[in-house]
Amino acid sequence: MVNKARSATERTRKYGSQAVKTVGRQQWLDRPSYRLEHALTLVFAAFGRRRERVTNVLHGTWLGHPLHSALTALPTGAVATAVTLDAASVLPGQTAMRDAARLALGVGIIGSLGAAATGATDWQHTHGEDRRIGIVHGLLNTVATGLYAVSWWDRRRGRHFRGMAGSALGYGLTMASGYLGASLVYGSGVGVDRSGPRLEVEDWTPVLAVRALNGRPQRVEIDGVGVVLHRDGETVLAVGEYCPHLGAPMSDGWVDRGRVVCPWHGSRFECQSGEVLKGPATASLPSYPTRIRDGIVEVRGWEAGRR
Ligand code: FES
Repeated sequence: MVNKARSATERTRKYGSQAVKTVGRQQWLDRPSYRLEHALTLVFAAFGRRRERVTNVLHGTWLGHPLHSALTALPTGAVATAVTLDAASVLPGQTAMRDAARLALGVGIIGSLGAAATGATDWQHTHGEDRRIGIVHGLLNTVATGLYAVSWWDRRRGRHFRGMAGSALGYGLTMASGYLGASLVYGSGVGVDRSGPRLEVEDWTPVLAVRALNGRPQRVEIDGVGVVLHRDGETVLAVGEYCPHLGAPMSDGWVDRGRVVCPWHGSRFECQSGEVLKGPATASLPSYPTRIRDGIVEVRGWEAGRR
């Protein structure tokens, strides 16, 4: 019995990872992906000066956490509730459950639309295999949401059993899509803070002559942790080596009007605190206290700077 369960688990794991790899290898998905990305660019451009505010909301920059992963719980939970109530409604005398199931399904549909908007906003910055997996994840969710909408309408017209079948099928697609989405987060680190290890050295550590900062950011290493130094007028800024969004090297970034700018997707971080001001990043960039002693830049660790 135990051996059977173990072999079933191994098979599931094997087929699941094979499915993710297979989707990631589908290069023919690149063309529709670029078209969709261009369409999204046009949609966001239509917001004009509000574009940054809208994308910050959808990425979750204001929340300090990707909004998509928080929102996906709503449709998944609501539709699971609808499916459960559907199952209960077939028991004798439980037909009142049907109304509750339709209500839960309606909540699921609204939540799916929010998850789609936030997911597409995050997806447009992915690359390669992640982008292919992401577009299939979105496609499965779109079909599932369509099935939920048809199911809701069927129920409203009194075709309850047909509605039950539609939402159950849609929920199967949502689960498959959730597997792909989870592989992006837990496998590829999409949505995870990618800024890497923090500097925890307590003492001021001399790293570089200030005159060496001749307009270009400089990467230095302290206690095995990469730190990027920027000169901003008379002050020197020390920030983490990697962008928290997808790990861009911040030594290729620049300082613009008191903001550190990521070279890949243009996230902006407040110079002194590292707080994220513009997405797609949602987490702060590590920033460290600096001082200049006898023409030498000194840096100390993150926690030490807060004591
Ligand atoms: S890597 Fe995407 S904003 Fe920095």
